[in-house]
Amino acid sequence: MATKAVPGAAATGEPTDVATPATAPNPLRKGLRLERIPEPCTMVIIGATGDLTERKLAPALYNLMLGGFLPPEFTVVGFARRDLSDVAFRERLHASVGDHSRNRPVKASIWASFARSVEYQRGEFHDPNAFAELTKRLARIDRDRGTAGNRLFYLAVPPVLHPEIVRQLAAAGLVASGEARDARHKGWTRVIVEKPFGSDLASARQLNREISEVFNEDQIYRIDHYLGKETVQNLAVFRFGNGLFEPIWNRRYIDSVQITVAETVGIEGRGEFYDQTGALRDIVQNHALQLLAVFAMEPPIEFQASDLRDEKLKVLRAVKPMTQREVALSTVRGQYQAGWVAGEQVSPYREEPEVAPDSQRETYAALKLAIQSWRWAGVPFYLRTGKALATRATEIAVQFKQAPLALFERAGASSLDPNVLAIRIQPDEGILLRFGAKVPGPGLQIRGVNMDFRYGSSFAVDSPDAYETLILDCMIGDASLFTRADELERAWEILDPILTAWESGEGGELHFYEAGSWGPAAADELLERDGRTWRHP
Ligand code: BG6
Repeated sequence: MATKAVPGAAATGEPTDVATPATAPNPLRKGLRLERIPEPCTMVIIGATGDLTERKLAPALYNLMLGGFLPPEFTVVGFARRDLSDVAFRERLHASVGDHSRNRPVKASIWASFARSVEYQRGEFHDPNAFAELTKRLARIDRDRGTAGNRLFYLAVPPVLHPEIVRQLAAAGLVASGEARDARHKGWTRVIVEKPFGSDLASARQLNREISEVFNEDQIYRIDHYLGKETVQNLAVFRFGNGLFEPIWNRRYIDSVQITVAETVGIEGRGEFYDQTGALRDIVQNHALQLLAVFAMEPPIEFQASDLRDEKLKVLRAVKPMTQREVALSTVRGQYQAGWVAGEQVSPYREEPEVAPDSQRETYAALKLAIQSWRWAGVPFYLRTGKALATRATEIAVQFKQAPLALFERAGASSLDPNVLAIRIQPDEGILLRFGAKVPGPGLQIRGVNMDFRYGSSFAVDSPDAYETLILDCMIGDASLFTRADELERAWEILDPILTAWESGEGGELHFYEAGSWGPAAADELLERDGRTWRHP
């Protein structure tokens, strides 16, 4: 069970560390979505002048402050190479919040109290002196601000730097154990690690090994921001909080499942990164396989990190890695060419800056996976993702089996489309159930209709950004929405044979598609061979 601060205690300045169930209602803040306030702590953002801090971390922290979810002692230290004063760093954060926060304009009173908790330290990532300085600073912050030795290090830097940085943290005496490997140190130390986590199984294992030389697994929070999305969390509630759906969540009733992560954006100036990465590593390895795991897992014994992650791992273990021949038959890789997306002209991927003019890198991937478990045997899972597609939409569409008898077709009705349950992760978050209904009037005509739940109209509140949820969970010590080392390595085990076959040219050719389309025709053929079609969200 995760150790959580008793909500309300932090507000009175009494850090009380007791085990409480994740779902325990807080009598003081009943009715609020996030009822948990973390203990006082310092968050050190390593790589604090980068894009992630600007677009995600600064807005997330401001919104947590605005929502009253941070304890008054909470402190942020930005650590990066650039020479900046505290004031200049605060101004950068202020501008980032102004540009990217879901709540705007920035409220002056909230900002003023947030800014007081922000400091900056310049340092090279390989310089022991910089980390020694950081140690002194954090000790001073503990004394002056009452942060109790609790530290959260956020590695917002490219993964090649992770091993060096964690070694420096350890050498500077900044790493206390999960809850005390180092007796000199009071309080907890946790580290948030950003994706990409490796580029194949071997490099992911190596990175896991290097980080685990310094941190225990229970201190490592590997972010997959999809798990922090409200709709993804709701997937578990939908399945296990209702009596209606779980009984039909299996091969007896479900014909097939489609998981789509479609983006209209191209590679957004990240040519160098993307040309080494591609859609399979960038989206399928993490976001799409995590959606699959949450969708397909067995009910966990309890709703807590280890049980949830055990169940997700079981799903991934049941996904059989493909042989080279299966890669050629069950996967499609594509790359966008010129086209139009939302009224804007898009140049071909190969003409993007820092992309090789003859690049073979996929900007689109479609796969057919099989989960070889009792529940899912025989149910194909089709996954697809792509850049520069027709629509931005992430959804899981469940297609149900047809009724056993075509009763109405005998009476002259045209054939019915199968029932579909579409779980819209984003945008337009909600859940849609499509079924057949009789068209009013004489005769028997049947048409597909929708029952549609929309977050926007059912709840008056805005959903928090995934980074808000995940940073807060990490401060609380709840790792449920983070990826464990074994899950991550299993995801690479599934994808490694595909990457190898694609990169050797044996796994089928690269198909081109027009920007603004739904991807290459070969992806349609992948389903047509099975007598199915993709749903276009
Ligand atoms: C990131 C990928 O992990 O997820 C990006 O690196 C992608 O390429 C992004 O655009 C999508 O996230 P979201 O939350 O916008 O769907």
